[in-house]
Amino acid sequence: MSPPDSDRLAAIRHALMAWYGVHARALPWRMAPGSAVRADPYRVWLSEVMLQQTTVPHATPYFEAFTARWPTVEALAAAPDEAVRGAWAGLGYYARARNLLACARAVARDHGGVFPGTEAGLRNLPGLGAYTAAAVAAIAFGRRTVVVDGNVERVMARLFTVETPLPKARPELRALADALTPEPTDYDPGDWAQALMDMGSRICRPRSPLCSDCPLAGECQARASGTPEAWPKKLAKTAKPRREGVVWALFDGEGRIGLVKRPDKGLLGGMLGLPTGGWDGAADVAPPARADWRDVGTVRHVFTHFELELTVMRGEGMADLIWRATDQAEDVLPTVFRKALVRAQAG
Ligand code: ADE
Repeated sequence: MSPPDSDRLAAIRHALMAWYGVHARALPWRMAPGSAVRADPYRVWLSEVMLQQTTVPHATPYFEAFTARWPTVEALAAAPDEAVRGAWAGLGYYARARNLLACARAVARDHGGVFPGTEAGLRNLPGLGAYTAAAVAAIAFGRRTVVVDGNVERVMARLFTVETPLPKARPELRALADALTPEPTDYDPGDWAQALMDMGSRICRPRSPLCSDCPLAGECQARASGTPEAWPKKLAKTAKPRREGVVWALFDGEGRIGLVKRPDKGLLGGMLGLPTGGWDGAADVAPPARADWRDVGTVRHVFTHFELELTVMRGEGMADLIWRATDQAEDVLPTVFRKALVRAQAG
């Protein structure tokens, strides 16, 4: 890959930032573009963790509730585990809430309640990953970092028609994002990161990109090709056989879920799981207890040799099962059952 021409990079930067100056969304954790005041690191960090889990419209009320109840990282650090777990319910995996709290407590205990101001310092905090460290360093501290999420990858793949399929293309897409990232003397790093994310999620959508509204349309090789949605390239998927089944999520009404130990032989052998049938589509699988069972939807999971669709049934009652607190169950269950548990809790 030859590095993109520097005039073209400059034109892309200029066009994107001009667009952001007009179209930036007003979000409760965000400063207006060009603001001389930096966003509060606590609010930026909290929003980024929530946004890894869900979309801006879904995360926003949770963000408002968290910051009203715990306005500072020290307040959050002092909160009881159960209070944070309760406030997180509906945002997805509780393991994230636990990481969130571990990180808040480390900032309060080891850093006097002040977030480290560099990408490397942030990365050393427990549970704070590479993406979050880059995003917080740019947005809250004005550092030049390379912030790459799925939206940014898609924008790079289209602007520069990267032919390598994902996931192999990741290093190439990252190198392009790095080459495109401006110097802090030219554009604010926080505005840059958020401009790219906003454009990627709202304009450069995976399907039906809104090229006619795109500030980069004139610079985009994928747009010039006429089929922008053909990028990023993905490895051709081989069709897998589909299987179906039912899974039973039985709660005891006191925050516990009933599990079974799976037979030692066979798929996920010896692991804990939710009670389930044979995954051969047979409808006559008996539930593990008499309960007022409700169908709360389906979850899908792709195994090496087949795709599974499970109908999730939710009920309350008692049975001779292995009972675990739901948040602990999330940590020990294989992904397919964790998905079913999350669905049952939401349903
Ligand atoms: N997605 C993740 N972080 C974001 C941010 N700061 N602004 C907009 N969308 C985002």
